[in-house]
Amino acid sequence: MFSFRWLLGALHLAIWGPITLTMTHAMLPPPPVQCNDAGCTLYNSYGVWNDRKDCHVPSITYPTTEEELRLAVAHANQNNLKVKVVSRFSHTIPKLACPDDAQHGSSMLISTLKYNSSIEIDAANLAVTADAGVGLRELIDEVERSGLSLVPAPYWEGVSVGGVISTGAHGSSWWGKGGAVHDHVIGLNLIVPARESEGYAKIIRIGAKDPLLNAAKVSLGMLGVISKVKLSLEPAFKRSVAYNFTDDAHIEDIFMDHGKKYEFADVTWYPSRHTAVYRYDYRVPLSTSGNGEYDFLGFQPNSIVVSKTTRSSEKLLESGRNVNGKCALATTFVGFKKLVANGLKNGLIFTGYPVVGHQGKMQTSGSCLYSTRIDTSCAWDPRIGGLFFYETTAIFPALKFGDFLRDVKKLRDLKPENFCGVDIYNGFLIRFIKASQAYLGQSEDSVVLDFNYYRADDSSTPRLNQDVWEEVEQMAFFKYGAKPHWAKNRNLAFLDLQHKYPSFSKFLAAKKQLDPKNMFSGEWSNEILYGKEAEKADGCALEGQCICSEDIHCSPKKGYFCEQGLVYKEARVCRYSSSAPI
Ligand SMILES: Cc1cc2nc3c(=O)[nH]c(=O)nc-3n(C[C@H](O)[C@H](O)[C@H](O)COP(=O)(O)OP(=O)(O)OC[C@H]3O[C@@H](n4cnc5c(N)ncnc54)[C@H](O)[C@@H]3O)c2cc1C
Ligand SMILES: *[C@@H]1O[C@H](CO)[C@@H](O)[C@H](O)[C@H]1NC(C)=O
Ligand SMILES: *[C@@H]1O[C@H](CO)[C@@H](O)[C@H](O)[C@H]1NC(C)=O
Repeated sequence: MFSFRWLLGALHLAIWGPITLTMTHAMLPPPPVQCNDAGCTLYNSYGVWNDRKDCHVPSITYPTTEEELRLAVAHANQNNLKVKVVSRFSHTIPKLACPDDAQHGSSMLISTLKYNSSIEIDAANLAVTADAGVGLRELIDEVERSGLSLVPAPYWEGVSVGGVISTGAHGSSWWGKGGAVHDHVIGLNLIVPARESEGYAKIIRIGAKDPLLNAAKVSLGMLGVISKVKLSLEPAFKRSVAYNFTDDAHIEDIFMDHGKKYEFADVTWYPSRHTAVYRYDYRVPLSTSGNGEYDFLGFQPNSIVVSKTTRSSEKLLESGRNVNGKCALATTFVGFKKLVANGLKNGLIFTGYPVVGHQGKMQTSGSCLYSTRIDTSCAWDPRIGGLFFYETTAIFPALKFGDFLRDVKKLRDLKPENFCGVDIYNGFLIRFIKASQAYLGQSEDSVVLDFNYYRADDSSTPRLNQDVWEEVEQMAFFKYGAKPHWAKNRNLAFLDLQHKYPSFSKFLAAKKQLDPKNMFSGEWSNEILYGKEAEKADGCALEGQCICSEDIHCSPKKGYFCEQGLVYKEARVCRYSSSAPI
């Protein structure tokens, strides 16, 4: 994402660098929970939830040990409080970690911010056990220091061990146990409510063979508090990575072989540019020379001035309905990414393919999390008025993905420039994850599609070409049966989920067994698990809170009417028309 910002950032740095380098305050991401006398407010990383309503919580506690975690759950149980866990990051976009507060004062938040001291490596058995609050970067570094590697590699390192497995987060791989972190979990400790005689809460140890593990490893925080996670490891290895920026011809036929052939394959597709980028990424022996790293452009610190300028230019292009302006930006972005290999570095900079480096350095990144300069930050930092966007992530049964791509190509070919908006971000990122035993995981080999796109400052402003993203979104989730990533997406993606998961009822049974009082469930997490369309209010389709069925769900005043899809006729999208449709 956002390489153009980076490009301008580099220019900006050249001019201002010497001055600003002398400043010492760090522009670290804001803490996700902010409290005052009236209670606390929980934010996601964009500072705005899908429904744009704040999440208020009367109180929060910061346990530091497993016993303190148990006591927190006991306190909640004894006092009939609704409870949710949140990590020090809160990097999930939907409101999963927001506890119910129907009766004011009847809920609490447990943070794992201070529960992150233990990482125990069992080298003989190729395993690591970590506290749930441990950060993925700290875990990876400790594992690599012991001469071992964690094989699944999410692309973003701003996640905790507990959070990453709870939402089914993943990197990309169809090999071995696959790209999802939870499929490498071989045990965990879960703290659940218990009877008074048991002290109101107990720690249960769930081993590799226990069927409860299939419920607990992807559990959206709805079964209890995960305190420790045990993951399997392999002896340390390196990876060799090269990108092939090429034509997008036959991408719908190539993706499958590509995913099978390379252990850590991915593909980025820029539909408006007719460009596909194949990542050739496979393991090589530790003895292979090379000490490279992947410092993904979109996750590097950005100049704040540039992030703001980019946002205002994007807003101007939006309000001017300037499609060609967006396409010009898309061309610059894709060109720049090719030049710097998306952030791959052989050493300090990129000097050529392939780039070889340690497993722990070649995929998972997030250098903007540690920005030490006051004039840089993550590009989406809510305090700076920088980037603001949606992220749709659809997970397809692999066998259906080719037809989906064919449909999207048809839509693209009608007017390729209408796709420029997505190519300004990261195009369509295509990743691979394997079939999983997890009840809320993928029951078959799957392909994950991610795309980001502009979000307006307020919920009543329609977006340029929004009908295109809506059609792709509805095609994915309703025509091709894709499932939403639990940690991303707009509300409509969660509609009608239950029949997509063959083991959904097993998850519910485990939930009933472990949390009979529904302490860990609430309005917000239920909305995601059970998928509920918002009340069909005026403009509700503009932000994906509903699917339009009448013009009023779009914005007839601003020229956006509810119409059918162009390729997927069953889709109902908000489309601009300079004159009202007949
Ligand atoms: C910039 C960015 C890039 C991203 N890239 C990727 C990617 O490449 N791949 C991918 O799959 N995802 C990606 N994500 C999504 C991210 O991986 C998930 O949001 C992840 O789950 C967040 O982890 P967290 O520690 O912040 O969890 P939180 O957001 O704090 O919590 C997530 C959920 O887990 C629960 N939970 C957290 N800790 C515990 C615990 N100890 N016990 C029980 N429940 C718990 C919470 O209640 C909540 O329901 C990205 C997100 C962002 C913002
Ligand atoms: C624990 O959290 C603190 C920030 O709260 C962080 O600085 C530290 O690196 C973390 N340690 C681990 C092992 O994750
Ligand atoms: C790049 O990918 C295309 C499409 O798969 C292929 O035809 C071409 O040979 C590849 N180029 C390289 C250098 O691998």
